[in-house]
Amino acid sequence: MNIKSEREIALMKEAGHINYLAHKEMEKYIKPGITTAQLDKKIHDFIINHDAYPSCLGYEGFPASACICVNEEIVHGIPGKRVLKDGDIVKLDFTVRKNGYESDMTRTYLVGNVSDEIRNFVKCTEEALFVGLQQIKPGNRIGDISHAIEEYAHVHGYSVVEEFVGHGIGTEMHEDPEVPNYGKPGVGPRLKKGMTLAIEPMLNMGSKEIIIQKNNWTAVTKDGLPSVHFEHTIAVTDDGYELLTGE
Ligand code: MF3
Ligand code: CO
Ligand code: CO
Repeated sequence: MNIKSEREIALMKEAGHINYLAHKEMEKYIKPGITTAQLDKKIHDFIINHDAYPSCLGYEGFPASACICVNEEIVHGIPGKRVLKDGDIVKLDFTVRKNGYESDMTRTYLVGNVSDEIRNFVKCTEEALFVGLQQIKPGNRIGDISHAIEEYAHVHGYSVVEEFVGHGIGTEMHEDPEVPNYGKPGVGPRLKKGMTLAIEPMLNMGSKEIIIQKNNWTAVTKDGLPSVHFEHTIAVTDDGYELLTGE
């Protein structure tokens, strides 16, 4: 498995910090009336202005700097003319590349006044991410992360999207190992100090079934109910993990 040096992890943390700052900056713009294309432009400019590159742009032909998903859109949403409305949720998922190293971070944002039901769903999905992260330390296995996320989702009545998974990350956006958001504890690769991972639960309010739209990118829920996504990039440390997409 791909183990990073202290120096490489420091570089990933630089990229991750810009990613975090870009997400914070977007809080200002998430309001009813803005389009997803306008948000994409803000993200693009913020990253370029920090001497970094929005590496989703051009990745396997992806046409924008951020994946932006509203409500029933799960992942890989292509920014465009969709206008945010009061009560929506919007997910901003983007990678920042700096000095040859990647970071990957997703947050789900509330647009105006969101129902308690959806608000709780958003909160619970972010908690599921941290419940997964709590399993990270040398000697534990990928399956321990996967299982913790799945169990937390199911206890709270949500389903887990199975088609998209977390992943290793480093000089490439997607490296080994895969990190599913469901599975058995005690199985899969063992975690080692210096591994760098993007952990990213996608939970659905209704069924786990998905459809890929005709643009061949965007996944949506089959039942049209909302989906929530949170993601952080971390490094495995001596006794736990270090957040790389943080303050
Ligand atoms: N950020 C996504 C992930 O979490 C990957 C986006 S690839 C793109 O793995 F091409 F859609 F941008
Ligand atoms: Co991502
Ligand atoms: Co990712």
